[in-house]
Amino acid sequence: MSNSVQGIRECEIIQWFVEPGARVEEFDKICEVQSDKASVDIPSRFSGVIKTLHYEAGEMAKVGKPLIDIDVPEEEVEKVETNQAGPKDGREAGAESVLGEALGSTIEPPSLREIKKAEGKPEANTAKPREVSGKHAALATPAVRHISKELGVDITLISGTGKDGRVSKDDVLQFAKLRDSGSSQASQTQSAEPTTQNAAFLRQAPDHGPQTEESKPLSNVQAMMFKSMTASLKIPHFLYADEVDVSALFSLRKRVNKTLKRAPAGDVEKISTMPFLIKAMSLAMDKYPIINARVDVSGPKPALVMRKQHNIGVAMDTPQGLIVPVIKNVGALNILSIAQELHRLQQLAKAGKLSNADLSGGTITLSNIGNIGGTYVSPVIVEKEVAILGIGKMRAIPAFGEDGQIVKKEVMNFSWSADHRVVDGATMAKAAEVVRGFVEEPDMMLVHLH
Ligand code: COA
Repeated sequence: MSNSVQGIRECEIIQWFVEPGARVEEFDKICEVQSDKASVDIPSRFSGVIKTLHYEAGEMAKVGKPLIDIDVPEEEVEKVETNQAGPKDGREAGAESVLGEALGSTIEPPSLREIKKAEGKPEANTAKPREVSGKHAALATPAVRHISKELGVDITLISGTGKDGRVSKDDVLQFAKLRDSGSSQASQTQSAEPTTQNAAFLRQAPDHGPQTEESKPLSNVQAMMFKSMTASLKIPHFLYADEVDVSALFSLRKRVNKTLKRAPAGDVEKISTMPFLIKAMSLAMDKYPIINARVDVSGPKPALVMRKQHNIGVAMDTPQGLIVPVIKNVGALNILSIAQELHRLQQLAKAGKLSNADLSGGTITLSNIGNIGGTYVSPVIVEKEVAILGIGKMRAIPAFGEDGQIVKKEVMNFSWSADHRVVDGATMAKAAEVVRGFVEEPDMMLVHLH
């Protein structure tokens, strides 16, 4: 017999639960052992009287060597020997327990594995260990194991209905019956849990049949997205994200909208946060024009192409998919005219009637995903631009006021992606701070109106 079970050669006896002279019943715990993987209680496989403990607590017990000697009734020795098809030469009603198979990788209980006559025959310890891998297989009695062997049933695949999940003779017979009748409950290829208290059989994964696949051409919008996002892969993205307090912007917006409700400006009866954010981006580009530039790699050397007009693309979720119409020359527009232009583009986008002119010429993009949901976004820069701002969902948070008191704040996460080939982190952060300043103190935007 190999003196190692899945690499374990010995384990420490933590404590004995029995002593010489004590009577034990089958499955009573006899000791607790500790391998390098786990500790486990070793149950007795026999009823009888303990004769000898082969180790003291704290000693290292060798796998394959006797743990204890037990005096057992003659019939039990015979029963075990018969079930194991071993030669019957017993007159002694003595049995010896050997530390072994319990010490597999899952450390399942029993380890009283081989018995032999107490008299002589030390070579009995060289018997081959049986491989036991099932959760409760090792709790089955030798007689049950014998039946399962005869019926060709792998006992480790059965979840028993007996005490502590022990597999009984009935469990094995039922399992074999179901298997022979072709029932899917009894498959030797699946692990199993009992489905009811009395059913100890395997639950097989439902058969969903083969996967079905269908190839579909991309829609026009998807084809455009595919092309532009594939081109975006060439751009090394630098992500810069921060939380921005939009409480002041929201109360300003409320005041403005009250007035607009009474006296609409053209089609516009209500302004969302977008026109304010678009204006704030434009003001930041006045200070950091590089974020309105593009990279030109068509010449012998890469170059930056600076652009005067701030043409801000606005990502829109439309019935046709994602499109990005552009609000042109934002630097020359006030917030109301930005709102009007946004409204016009939204209406056309809804109707699927945007022109090529509306969809081209962008120099930077704003994507507000927050009206749908999501706190964080990692926006993707499109070709011919070097930056994009993504806005998450507005949410209320408790924050510290000026005097340390708790106040309610409305915040949004602003996430910038910049082309790190030409825009360094500090520049991006400074430009983002300008935007934050105008959003947190929106009245300051008035000062910059043309
Ligand atoms: N957090 C919470 N609520 C938000 C919000 C945010 N970030 N952004 C907008 N809202 C609210 C608005 O305040 C409005 O509510 P109200 O009427 O009670 O004031 C409501 O959502 C609807 O706003 P909407 O009409 O969509 O206007 P908008 O100007 O804020 O947004 C678009 C316009 C075009 C940006 C938006 O409709 C859209 O399509 N967003 C999706 C963009 C997208 O798909 N990006 C991903 C690109 S990969």
